[in-house]
This record gives sequence, C-alpha cells and structure tokens, in this order.
Amino acid sequence: MGKNIVIFASGTGTNAENIIRYFEKKKSASIKIKLVLSNKKEAQVLERAKRLNIPCRYIPKNDWEKGEEILSLLQSNEIDLIVLAGFLLKVPDSLLEAYPRRIVNIHPALLPKYGGKGMYGNRVHEAVAAAGETETGITIHYINKEYDKGEIISQVTCPIQPDDTPEEIASKVHALEYEYYPQVIESLLS
Ligand code: GRF
Repeated sequence: MGKNIVIFASGTGTNAENIIRYFEKKKSASIKIKLVLSNKKEAQVLERAKRLNIPCRYIPKNDWEKGEEILSLLQSNEIDLIVLAGFLLKVPDSLLEAYPRRIVNIHPALLPKYGGKGMYGNRVHEAVAAAGETETGITIHYINKEYDKGEIISQVTCPIQPDDTPEEIASKVHALEYEYYPQVIESLLS
C-alpha cells in the first residue's frame, strides 16, 4: 500500500522541495507527496510545488484556526503523514486529534534548547551563536499543543567553530536537514 504525505510550509520551502525530490527519485518506496499547503499566499514554497507538479494551496489563517476544511482536504487525499517544513502557524487541535503521532516537524536546533514560540529561522542561529555553543543540530519531533515540545524522534548534531557566524551555522544546519529529514520521514512510513 502506498503512503501519502502532505507538507505544511510558510516560507521559502527548500526543505519541502528537497523532500519532494527525494521521494520522486525513490518511486519504489511508494511514498507520495500528495499536497503542499501554506498559510502564506506569496510563500515561495507554493511556486516550488507548482514547478514540481505537486498540487498546492494557500489556506487563509481563519481556515487554519477552524481546521475543518483542512481536515476534509487531508481525508479526501488519504493522507498518512503531515510533514511540517518551516510552518509557522499552530496546527489546529482537530488535526492533532485526527493524526496522533502522525504530524512531524523539524527544528533547526537541539531541543529543548532554542525552541518555543518565536524561535524560528535566523533567530535560532543568532541565539545559538550568542550563547557560544560548541555544537548545534536538528531535532525531528512529533508535534503536540505546545510549540517545539512534542516527543523527539531524532536529533543530529554538528560542531560550531568559535568564529562561525549565524549564517554559517544556518548553512551547516540546513545541510543536516536536507540529509536527514527525508530519511526519517521514510522510516516513519515503513
Ligand atoms: C528550516 O530551517 C526548518 O528547520 C525550520 O524552518 C526552516 C525552513 O526552511 N522549521 P525552508 O523554508 O525549508 O528553507
């Protein structure tokens, strides 16, 4: 039986594109990215999805809060796993209830450090650099009602040099994201 994924993303969507390409190359694994949804009309991730021929939609904030339309969209697409890739809104409770241990997120640091509301993008890497950390990494985790507090599935670390800028840290972390997020997603579905 094939498995279907939906990706939720708010921004640039480099992880979304990387995940889409990974599973396209691996047709034998029969895992399919069925849909990309964004809460931002102008999000670059929607352009990427169109270019890659993946159905995609902008859903306004109100509908994310209610959750009913999204739930029925996911049900009609027979979605098995919800993958968050730079998604900045809260996932509605109705989805958390309908997809227990079936919604995953990636955070660009080693949770529980440098997580929580407002900790995303460069803010995370700036905080990591300012604290003089000697390592950082990625955390892939299930989501629950609190930002970045769900059960951890996998963490991978990378070293930080004393003179690394936040941008250099970001690029090391992105490299880990691209390598590991698709693999972890695949292992959750097999
Ligand atoms: C990634 O760093 C991810 O860890 C975080 O949001 C960022 C999204 O980047 N959750 P992109 O849109 O995939 O380029």
